[in-house]
Amino acid sequence: MSKAVTVKTLMEMKQNKTRIVSLTAYDYPFAKIADEAGIDILLVGDSLGMVVQGGASTLGVTMDEMIYHTRTVARGAKRALVVGDMPFLSYQVSLSEAVYNAGRFLKEAGAAAVKLEGGATVVDRIQAMTEAGIPVQAHIGLTPQSVHQLGGFRVQRDEARLLIDAEAVQAAGAFSVVLEGIPKTIATKITQTLKIPTIGIGAGSDCDGQVLVLHDMLGLTATHVPKFVKQYANLRKNAIDGIANYVREVRENIFPADEHTY
Ligand code: KIV
Repeated sequence: MSKAVTVKTLMEMKQNKTRIVSLTAYDYPFAKIADEAGIDILLVGDSLGMVVQGGASTLGVTMDEMIYHTRTVARGAKRALVVGDMPFLSYQVSLSEAVYNAGRFLKEAGAAAVKLEGGATVVDRIQAMTEAGIPVQAHIGLTPQSVHQLGGFRVQRDEARLLIDAEAVQAAGAFSVVLEGIPKTIATKITQTLKIPTIGIGAGSDCDGQVLVLHDMLGLTATHVPKFVKQYANLRKNAIDGIANYVREVRENIFPADEHTY
């Protein structure tokens, strides 16, 4: 196993032009699999609310749920940096709540950093967390917690706004920034402008790294997946086939066979 990934490693990777690979995880077995496969950043995303809990948005996810899932992921990660995603209303209400909740990810769940959504409007949060010793990954562009304000899950194209947001989160102390759902040309410009690594999702190939939602890229998602997702496996089909076989074999009294019997 190579050395554990830290926020310093990620900065070096940007400088060396080594692409950073991030993936979401929500539990111990998949965290362990992704870690062994070489993922650099395991993001315990609040996408949990959609791909694990079956909700229509991420808005219903609670701090306690995030702490529980982050703890299980941290147990499975030996090399990857574990980032806990701050859920809706865990950092918007007040600065002190924001720092307290961010701290819970490190203190109670074993994360090494947190992520929060927003640009110039959350710089006081990022600064306060960073001053408290909590590394922060920012997230700009299509920010799913603002789905109602954005009028849906839409590509964000305001270049001037996105550049202001990117520079603001860097100045506030973020160690990295997720660029979600923005045109490649804008993501390229931001990546060239910033010293901190950009991690793209639906932001083209010029970002310093990429992140995908585990369930989407493994083909576990039954519903529509966005254009930017590449499906690297079809685990949903494998699981249905395996379970259907089990059903058939029990009905036909094939399982359990002698070798499964004491
Ligand atoms: O919640 C999440 O999984 C995320 C990623 C899509 C970046 O925020």
